[in-house]
Amino acid sequence: MALRLGDTAPDFEADTTEGRIRFHDWLGDAWGVLFSHPADYTPVCTTELGETAKLKHEFDKRNTKVIAVSVDSVEDHKGWSKDIEETQQCTVNFPIIADEHRQVSQLYDMLHPGEGDASTVRSVFLIDPNKKVRMTLTYPKSAGRNFEEILRVIDSIQLTDGYKVATPVNWRDGDDVIIVPTLSDEEAKAHFPDGWKTIKPYLRVTKQPNR
Ligand code: BEZ
Repeated sequence: MALRLGDTAPDFEADTTEGRIRFHDWLGDAWGVLFSHPADYTPVCTTELGETAKLKHEFDKRNTKVIAVSVDSVEDHKGWSKDIEETQQCTVNFPIIADEHRQVSQLYDMLHPGEGDASTVRSVFLIDPNKKVRMTLTYPKSAGRNFEEILRVIDSIQLTDGYKVATPVNWRDGDDVIIVPTLSDEEAKAHFPDGWKTIKPYLRVTKQPNR
């Protein structure tokens, strides 16, 4: 069965371009992004892995470790990484799992037979320091993902874990947020002493609290 939000992210041992890892140990106390791509030496994936490498400082700021997976060998991953570095002007600075036996792909339900072949689709799993799955995304092979969106949702989840707020459409770090509807006005006064704007009783907007 597909993994659901709140499920424990399955642990596994695997070979990667940075050596053998046990996933939960490798994550440690950090957040994690595990993302699959269909295959090495493919064009869309080349751009995605290059972009991920360039965003490392943004993932670091969010205490988030990134790890990629595909169904090719460590040797292929290493050869292809040289192409990524050459064409995307970056250093591949995160591990890529060699999932030749499709152990990880099956554990995380990344193989979708209706999508044409036995390679993985473009899945993303955001995992919190308690090893719980907090966000999933699945894109078809033909559509490269937006890694700014992955950062944006990490910002949202890390913020809303700490405060009784939710983030509105297209929210970006620093924008106003919404007070959760489960909080009464009376309770909200204690949480938001600077007040809020009531647009509807269920739609109350306030400044981002951790700013
Ligand atoms: C790609 O990464 O470019 C790709 C892989 C499989 C199907 C389509 C595109």
